[in-house]
Amino acid sequence: MIEPVYSPANDRYTCGMKYRRAGKSGICLPEISLGLWHNFGDVDTLANGKRILFCAFDRGITHFDLANNYGPSYGSAEETFGQVMKSSFLPYRDELFISTKAGHDMWEGPYGNWGSRKHLMASLDQSLKRMNLDYVDIFYSHRYDPETPLEETMQALVDIVRQGKALYVGLSKYPEEVAGKAYSYLRAHDVPCLLYQGRYSLLVREPERQGILAQAKANGAGFIAFSPLAEGLLTNRYLNGIPEDSRIARGGHLKKEALTDEMLHKLWSLNAVAGKRGQSLAEMALAWLLKDDSVTSVIIGASSVKQLEDNLKALDNTHFSEEELREIEEVLK
Ligand SMILES: NC(=O)c1ccc[n+]([C@@H]2O[C@H](COP(=O)([O-])OP(=O)(O)OC[C@H]3O[C@@H](n4cnc5c(N)ncnc54)[C@H](OP(=O)(O)O)[C@@H]3O)[C@@H](O)[C@H]2O)c1
Repeated sequence: MIEPVYSPANDRYTCGMKYRRAGKSGICLPEISLGLWHNFGDVDTLANGKRILFCAFDRGITHFDLANNYGPSYGSAEETFGQVMKSSFLPYRDELFISTKAGHDMWEGPYGNWGSRKHLMASLDQSLKRMNLDYVDIFYSHRYDPETPLEETMQALVDIVRQGKALYVGLSKYPEEVAGKAYSYLRAHDVPCLLYQGRYSLLVREPERQGILAQAKANGAGFIAFSPLAEGLLTNRYLNGIPEDSRIARGGHLKKEALTDEMLHKLWSLNAVAGKRGQSLAEMALAWLLKDDSVTSVIIGASSVKQLEDNLKALDNTHFSEEELREIEEVLK
């Protein structure tokens, strides 16, 4: 059967998505971005992946977040995205903001991992081929490499921009004390860091507590939150057990050990607060992050169009009363 040609929704920029400026840059990103870490690999169903990607773009999600090793298998999420790029998204390339990263294990041998110039440059070349792209919009150093001089990693990012293979660069999961030096290096070389990407959710508060959010702002960078739903914990997914098709049951990054009685108690209590706000737990968890304007965007994952659509409802109410915030902190204490 010949597939119909994808044609994006005409109202994609008027249907409710809002865009926020990334730090002191020219770039605005959708408040909700879509990540392809899980659900887009060669173990997943291509048709489902396509439906999620199309729905996202139809609803104003212009930012898609990838990395060299997303899958499984490694590289296969980029291949999936590359297929969709070729078959459907190519006419809209200039409406899309696409990221990739290097720095975690990708291929065998001494150059397939970490922060060397060799790894970053080779990995990005591979990623561009897999994604059928000439350039990415942002390329990240996926994690700090304590064994490689920071200057080597940062200079590779600078040179990648000079080569035209990425328009902007970003840092992911860098400790606060190293991030400060990285921001300075990049700024001094006229390639300011666009985004700091960090794990942040109701359950993971390090970016606030370790000063990462404030530091990004002070350095003119945006902050983009990953795993904002704590990989599914902050949704109704596990409130009544472990569904067969869930990340935990499928052997994803989230493990069943995370579901302690204490955690379940917290999730049920948060779910009750969300209910009083007229939101699902997932909606409230996303809204809670977006209440802070130093968060540029939240990168969600979704295994179905329904999850994506549910999560987009978070944008209807990102305001919290003092009382609601107190109640949430009380639960998380
Ligand atoms: N920089 C880094 O090191 C790093 C690390 C991790 C992630 N990331 C980025 O962040 C993105 C998001 O990470 P994540 O997938 O962990 O994000 P997440 O949004 O915290 O979790 C996504 C998972 O939650 C469940 N879910 C989502 N919406 C739901 C809903 N409405 N109802 C019920 N369940 C729902 C789904 O799990 P099921 O599959 O069980 O349905 C989904 O796969 C990644 O794709 C990646 O781009 C970056």
